[in-house]
Amino acid sequence: MPIVGAALLITVVTGVALTSTVGRGGTSSGDPVDGKRLFTASGCSGCHTFRAASSTGTQGPDLDAASPTSDKVMRQLEHPGGLMPSYATRLSKDEKHDLAAFVGGPGTSGNAVAAPFRPDSKRLADCRDGNFHCLEQAFGNLTFNEGPKVALERLQKMAATTPAVQSDCHQIAHRMGSAALAHFKDEVSPAFVAGTTFCFSGYYHGIIERAFLGQPIEKIGPLAQKLCSDKAISGDPFLTYQCIHGIGHGVMIYTGYDMPVSLKTCDGLQTNFDQVSCQGGVFMENFNSSYGVTSKYLRDDDPIYPCNAVAERHKLQCYGLITANILRLTGYDQEKTVAACRKAEPDWVSMCFQSFGRDASGIAGTSASKALASCRLAGDHEGDCLYAVSRDIVSFDAGAERAGRFCKLVPATHRERCNVGLGSVLVSLEPTPKRLKAACRRISGRYARSCEKGAAMTTPQT
Ligand code: HEC
Repeated sequence: MPIVGAALLITVVTGVALTSTVGRGGTSSGDPVDGKRLFTASGCSGCHTFRAASSTGTQGPDLDAASPTSDKVMRQLEHPGGLMPSYATRLSKDEKHDLAAFVGGPGTSGNAVAAPFRPDSKRLADCRDGNFHCLEQAFGNLTFNEGPKVALERLQKMAATTPAVQSDCHQIAHRMGSAALAHFKDEVSPAFVAGTTFCFSGYYHGIIERAFLGQPIEKIGPLAQKLCSDKAISGDPFLTYQCIHGIGHGVMIYTGYDMPVSLKTCDGLQTNFDQVSCQGGVFMENFNSSYGVTSKYLRDDDPIYPCNAVAERHKLQCYGLITANILRLTGYDQEKTVAACRKAEPDWVSMCFQSFGRDASGIAGTSASKALASCRLAGDHEGDCLYAVSRDIVSFDAGAERAGRFCKLVPATHRERCNVGLGSVLVSLEPTPKRLKAACRRISGRYARSCEKGAAMTTPQT
């Protein structure tokens, strides 16, 4: 699975980017969230084992093993055979579609897709043909035997020269995280401390995934909280963010892309920062699966979904990442993406354009004129877009000089907003109020007040 790389840069304080997903299948129009509720309410769970519904019935076939398509589920509900009761008239058409979306479809919802790491004798030299499984295992072995520091350096070097490694580095790094936990005898904090964010933090995600394996779902929340509050991690804001955000990714992977359960796990975390960082990981994993799995919580015919279906408290994070989904669905057509943002729920249109600005910045790279042109497409939301570009630049550079120059190029009416965005990220880079003030003055000039205003904002960031 290729990495879109800088093209889709999702930046937080630290700059975390998305990986691309492969083609999607399954076009069931039902809503799997409702389907899940119906599965229990209609008595399916009494007869079927289905992990995504935590059901253990045995009268009918195990639906994880049978893994029926959504069409098959529809047929079964209309014309059941054998001992299964008919739902032809007991459920409405919509309800049947909801069930089909939940039970059927591509991917493996309900099944953890990450396997624990098992070392063997494979070495990098055995993978000259660039076979992904070979590379994944060999880098895992290297991590297990020599520790993550050496192995991650090797990965980074090889990615620079070997296209097969570069395009799969995120998933390889996932496996290395899992191997590192084995190396450190399941102790999370030394594994974390030895890591790097190379290739979009795949290594951190891998540790978290592996740390969850074998745990019952209701234990994941408390376990997650405990993992990240270890002193070696909680003392460092950067590692804390990686850890909590990684929980969002990890819990999605662990539950087989069960978004509702994953969000509930995030809600159980202690602080607002933790909840929000975790939700960001969940939505990112939903839109761009690390494993090439197609989440059930995506719809070809509704680019805004699931943001228009999730609880109000989850919308900020969802809309903050939604254009990753829209761009993918529209084949990276920015005009179509802008049009889709306009059709978002009215209260969230502005956030959709901020998401667009950040992705546009990633796509534009260092070209200010490209970013400006993208934001012009946003029309009356140009300000939202430019605000997000400026934030993205500061995050990406871990410095505000280039963003300061960018803000001088934007239309005069948006310069204030641009500098507010700049300040809102700059605050995380300047350790003291005094230095922050000086930096705002130096970089934003006559817009220093806007920069300081941004720095004082407390809105949680995606
Ligand atoms: C009383 C027990 C019972 C209930 C309740 C029940 N099923 Fe079934 N189900 C069965 C049995 C038995 C079969 C195997 C049917 C056959 O022999 O063709 C089956 C088969 C299926 C299959 C086909 C699996 C395959 O082989 O691919 C699906 C899908 C399915 N059921 C879904 C559901 C859903 C969704 C519900 C709830 C709306 C439900 N079932 C409720 C007993 C039940």
